[in-house]
Amino acid sequence: MQATIALLPGDGIGPEVVAEGVRVLNAVAAAYGHSFAYREALLGGCAIDATGSPLPAATLAACEAADAVLLGAVGGPKWDDPRAKVRPEQGLLGLRKALGLYANLRPVAVPEQLAERSPLRPELVRGVDLIVVRELTGGIYFGAKESVFIRPDEERAYDTCVYTTSEIARVVRRAADLARQRRGLLTSVDKANVLETSRLWRRVTTEIVAHEYPDLRLEHILVDACAMHLLRRPADFDVIVTENMFGDILTDEASMLTGSLGMLPSASLGDGQRGLYEPIHGSAPDIAGQGRANPLATILSTALLLRHSLGLEAEAAAVEAAVAATLEQGIVTADLAAAGSAYSTEAVGTAVVAALQRQPVAA
Ligand code: IPM
Ligand code: MG
Repeated sequence: MQATIALLPGDGIGPEVVAEGVRVLNAVAAAYGHSFAYREALLGGCAIDATGSPLPAATLAACEAADAVLLGAVGGPKWDDPRAKVRPEQGLLGLRKALGLYANLRPVAVPEQLAERSPLRPELVRGVDLIVVRELTGGIYFGAKESVFIRPDEERAYDTCVYTTSEIARVVRRAADLARQRRGLLTSVDKANVLETSRLWRRVTTEIVAHEYPDLRLEHILVDACAMHLLRRPADFDVIVTENMFGDILTDEASMLTGSLGMLPSASLGDGQRGLYEPIHGSAPDIAGQGRANPLATILSTALLLRHSLGLEAEAAAVEAAVAATLEQGIVTADLAAAGSAYSTEAVGTAVVAALQRQPVAA
């Protein structure tokens, strides 16, 4: 097949990890007879430096014209002034919103080879296979916000959390569809004992599952309790659905089940086939440019891209198998390596490509 993929390397380690993702996509294209064309564009801090805007019109146009978008990370100390009017993160949030990508899938699976690397005891994380479906274009990230001086010496800031029935319903349906293909357990996470948006979330979720997904088991958990249960009994979870900020926080926590934030991929989807694929980690400015970043979250994101936007399931599974083979060989970056045995970003990418090339191609 032919596909166009927009590349947004972004800032910090973004370009390094995206480069490895592209090598893997090229290896897939060669092995399976596909042709992928890439269009690179600016997003985040690099876009601010070049154009003044974190999401230039040309970038949005490139994404809209593509079948899928592969993104690295945005942000860094250079643009971190809390007084700044434009911020790299606005580019990412604006892009998610403009493309209508309301459902952010963040799978967390702990491969056997990583069970020993987690800060949790291996018997706790063994067999973890969950997916967080994070609402991505609403909530407190997008509600009215402001900081104003109410007196010369007193400033007052607010952010508002807003959800509508339909915004909740569409992401809950997406999560419920996934639960149906998996183990049939849907966990909805909210703060319904305090927040009005959470009470609406809980009512809408309960109703949709009762009427449209009576075959699923639905549980509601408060977000603070969920944070605890993710450490105490992570293997019990199947599909977790939650609002934007809770999902942001819980997935950084959940990444530690695998031992590294550098392992978690994500797919941001809307109603069409086009999706945005990115590692859940940030731009890691402290290690940028050193060839130390773990490219596996980005490489696993390319598997999600093949699966969800291009419909190439065999190719997606091949990438995931190649990552598993690379872990099996102990070829990992510093975040996962025992002292003195770390491989570079590029060496890990090379190992994944080699593992892909060793696999027989299913006809
Ligand atoms: C994420 C990131 C972003 C978010 C930041 C960079 C705006 O933390 O994708 O999880 O909060 O959504
Ligand atoms: Mg985050």
